[in-house]
Amino acid sequence: MTNIRNIVILTGAGVSAESGIDTFRTAGGLWERYKPEDVATPEAFARDPDLVLAFYDMRRAAIREKQPNLAHEALARLDAEWPGELLIVTQNVDDLHERAGARRVLHMHGQHHTAWCTACDSRPAWSGPLIHRPPCPECGEAALRPDVVWFGEMPYRMEEIAAALHEADLFVSIGTSGAVYPAAGFVRNARELGAATLELNLEPSQGSRWFDEARHGPASEIVPAWVDEMLALA
Ligand code: OAD
Repeated sequence: MTNIRNIVILTGAGVSAESGIDTFRTAGGLWERYKPEDVATPEAFARDPDLVLAFYDMRRAAIREKQPNLAHEALARLDAEWPGELLIVTQNVDDLHERAGARRVLHMHGQHHTAWCTACDSRPAWSGPLIHRPPCPECGEAALRPDVVWFGEMPYRMEEIAAALHEADLFVSIGTSGAVYPAAGFVRNARELGAATLELNLEPSQGSRWFDEARHGPASEIVPAWVDEMLALA
């Protein structure tokens, strides 16, 4: 891979799997134990807010105890040392990319370390539970919800992602099943716009055929190896 300057990296639950955070669609994943329509839609929140808040409180608490793994660390190293443009677009709501030291991270499905006040539209830093309806630190209303994107809602910062894909020479997808749009469509956007495409995943994803190259194995092994290759080119 020569003549690469601008890189867009899409990450999914697989990059955090070896940190002990549940994936969604693999055997034993979250969507085997919970139905997305019960816990991850605006309709579910309107129907049974306690169930939805308890689900996200449980996930927020679980994430707090986990640590970045070798894949997050390698991506943080690439972010620090890569001389061109680089953007890590993550579908993950954990903060393990940031805790590993990555700076150029965009959370397209939201994040667990902020809450969203539906009364004043602020997004205060948050680490505790929401089930007891705490007041918003900005406006005092008990109107905080998880700052995550639910099915049927628009992912965050799509214009920035589109602009980065436009400039990308290389698009890399790491640890995502390719089942959820619009993220699953980024590989085709990137190809149409002329970028090289690479998949790094435990197994072929649903979108594997769209990539120029695919490497399969645990993220903690294949991501550091790829980062070493990239930094040798830089
Ligand atoms: P999935 O659970 O759908 O897919 C995780 C992918 O990671 C699978 O393809 C696994 O094979 C792979 N994987 C598992 N362990 C791995 C490892 N150690 N190393 C490398 N790869 C590994 O998760 P996502 O694709 O992230 O959205 O799911 C996308 C979205 O669907 C999520 O952001 C969430 C979910 O519903 C919302 O909640 C809106």
